Amino acid sequence: MKMKQFNLLSLFLILITCFGQANSTIVSHDERAITIDGQRRILLSGSIHYPRSTSDMWPDLISKAKDGGLDAIETYVFWNAHEPSRRQYDFSGNLDLVRFIKTIQGAGLYSVLRIGPYVCAEWNYGGFPVWLHNMPNMKFRTINPGFMNEMQNFTTKIVNMMKEENLFASQGGPIILAQIENEYGNVISSYGAEGKAYIDWCANMANSLDIGVPWIMCQQPHAPQPMIETCNGFYCDQYKPSNPSSPKMWTENWTGWFKNWGGKHPYRTAEDLAYSVARFFQTGGTFQNYYMYHGGTNFGRVAGGPYITTSYDYDAPLDEYGNLNQPKWGHLKQLHTLLKSMEKPLTYGNISTVDLGNSVTATVYTTNEKSSCFIGNVNATADALVNFKGKDYNVPAWSVSVLPDCDKEAYNTARVNTQTSIITEDSCAEPEKLKWTWRPEFTTQKTILKGSGDLIAEGLVDQKDVTDDASDYLWYMTRVHLDKKDPIWSRNMSLRVHSNAHVLHAYVNGKYVGNQIVRDNKFDYRFEKKVNLVHGTNHLALLSVSVGLQNYGPFFESGPTGINGPVKLVGYKGEETIEKDISKHQWDYKIGLHGFNHKLFSIKSAGHRHLKWSTEKLPADRMLSWYKANFKAPLGKDPVIVDLNGLGKGEVWINGQSIGRYWPSFNSSDDGCTDECDYRGEYGSDKCAFMCGKPTQRWYHVPRSFLNENGHNTITLFEEMGGDPSMVKFKTVVTGTVCARAHEHNKVELSCNNRPISAVKFASFGNPSGKCGSFAAGTCQGAKDAAKVVAEECVGKLNCTMNVSSHKFGSTLDCGDSPKRLFVEIEC
Ligand code: GAL
Repeated sequence: MKMKQFNLLSLFLILITCFGQANSTIVSHDERAITIDGQRRILLSGSIHYPRSTSDMWPDLISKAKDGGLDAIETYVFWNAHEPSRRQYDFSGNLDLVRFIKTIQGAGLYSVLRIGPYVCAEWNYGGFPVWLHNMPNMKFRTINPGFMNEMQNFTTKIVNMMKEENLFASQGGPIILAQIENEYGNVISSYGAEGKAYIDWCANMANSLDIGVPWIMCQQPHAPQPMIETCNGFYCDQYKPSNPSSPKMWTENWTGWFKNWGGKHPYRTAEDLAYSVARFFQTGGTFQNYYMYHGGTNFGRVAGGPYITTSYDYDAPLDEYGNLNQPKWGHLKQLHTLLKSMEKPLTYGNISTVDLGNSVTATVYTTNEKSSCFIGNVNATADALVNFKGKDYNVPAWSVSVLPDCDKEAYNTARVNTQTSIITEDSCAEPEKLKWTWRPEFTTQKTILKGSGDLIAEGLVDQKDVTDDASDYLWYMTRVHLDKKDPIWSRNMSLRVHSNAHVLHAYVNGKYVGNQIVRDNKFDYRFEKKVNLVHGTNHLALLSVSVGLQNYGPFFESGPTGINGPVKLVGYKGEETIEKDISKHQWDYKIGLHGFNHKLFSIKSAGHRHLKWSTEKLPADRMLSWYKANFKAPLGKDPVIVDLNGLGKGEVWINGQSIGRYWPSFNSSDDGCTDECDYRGEYGSDKCAFMCGKPTQRWYHVPRSFLNENGHNTITLFEEMGGDPSMVKFKTVVTGTVCARAHEHNKVELSCNNRPISAVKFASFGNPSGKCGSFAAGTCQGAKDAAKVVAEECVGKLNCTMNVSSHKFGSTLDCGDSPKRLFVEIEC
């Protein structure tokens, strides 16, 4: 019997080993490229952060990434989300990393796992748990035993989880690369000799985990071997790895940018993004990752900062809700298809360059079987007409032409043939008017007047040191006895607070004195307001609000948060100013607000007898108030948003789940936007920004999976600043209008994204002009009625594809030889 068991077991082990070996993939690199099973590869990858979407969205996002021509999905791992308290882990729901990687595997894609565990990522505290900071003698990202121990513990935990599920390529899984640390090279000099020792330790620690695939370190020149250094930025064509045996890799091609409260909407054109990619491969790149491919949403309190918005749309190829962001998605897809078709020459070919003058360079990649070429024009203003291998090419300024066989342009980064989709709110369904109930936030009376808190300290404390970031809110309360003889007495007295709170609300003797919010990145400021003080005891209550913890910079973890003082009472007597510093007094602290601590947003709180919600006298513009309403989920499958226009600042929950902080009353600055966006020349996060003077974020994503499709749904708001909920509406987002400006000899594909095309508003083949919404016919047009041709092909269909040619639209006699274009606008 025993014998039999042994045999079965060994057979099982042999099977597993053989199976594992048969499926295992060998990932390595040489100076030219990442190689997979001995083949050099061109790898196209895109970042999708699993907790910034919901798990039901993952299959669709990943399949759209695959359809967009990607080979791999990259994600960070978010330490503070997974280990919210020391040694207590959470990998449930949208934090189910294994499931996310398996979804990628199921789609047939590779995955790149950036463990960090410092991630930056505009994520709260850069991904570090705040409890870690509050451990004794702690210093992050340097030689510090406590830190190194925790970092190693978490990294090992993640690696082991992946190993147990056979998720590394070496085990037959999808993970081809893993990352340790993140952009440490940007800050290493601030850490002196310990910085070098720390990064060496990171490399050794990672290496010892024996994952069987290469480790990368981004922005880490001279990365300790065998770590591969990589580049991050808007462009990496000029990048050369400092180690000659490292291939040229780009871990973050920023597809747009993130947004701060008070900031504008970022916008990076498809032309410029495609240009950066084509330039990278023209100059010998092997691996390129879009950061972000899908940005998504900072649900709950995960937004970092300070001051990162709830939307993390990033102007990525897939928008916040998972829709194709066109033309970006499609224009890149075409480029990806061509690059893949050139994989062999690009990775094995001999490289030669031809200087064509005026900043125009042709690069030729040659193997015995095939040659592929690029012609890049890096001049930001001058278009070029060049002769290359006996043929003329027109290469617009700041563009790259791709010639897969070196004899014909198949693609130019500046000539966009993909449709532009304009996403709008659905106008068909009239949103229901919500019936609100409300209740005040109770903390106010007890706290503001009595000053009773959870802990007492001499002097002022740092907010995150005492809250562990369990809440955005911390009350600082003290009493000041002023007798009649106090020198401070005057007619003109004020409270002066030196603060690092992102928002500060001040009360004196139960009365609201005012607030101050951080603007224009001035996170260190002075608040001063006139106050009425009394003889005897005066009660001061300061509410410090944090809006996302710092996520970047050397020693960012120890940057001040909250009210760091000094706090003074000031008396002005003519020329004389008398200050009374109360910073060192005894202060009472209360963490969080009553309603949060009692989970007023949870669905279960409804029946609690102390927590009465009222329908009477619904207040508008009342600070520190809770609002609640029931609603029906919008029908269908289109993404749902809630329009919070009219509200001030706070947090919003749907059926008990937080969809993030809101702050629609915070408008972006009035200037810095232009109507015209020139894709040419270097991109920066402010370039081509739009929505100046508008609410930074008015619409908030409500994931379908948070909703009960048929039953009751509840929205709960905590309004901190005061606002009017009467305008709050649930809507869906759909593709409203589609435009295209396709070039002759190409195909144009039109689609309303799951809805039928309803009408053709404009179509002209020849030399039309104008912008989407105001196209106009030019001086020459094809002989056929273009609108009719498009209508016949497209109306009533989900999508249609047409050749942009004289054959299709009739010849255009008066256009001469100049290249013709088809402009079309359709309604969805
Ligand atoms: C990089 C960083 C990313 C992200 C990006 C900006 O420096 O590595 O995590 O923060 O900047 O979006």
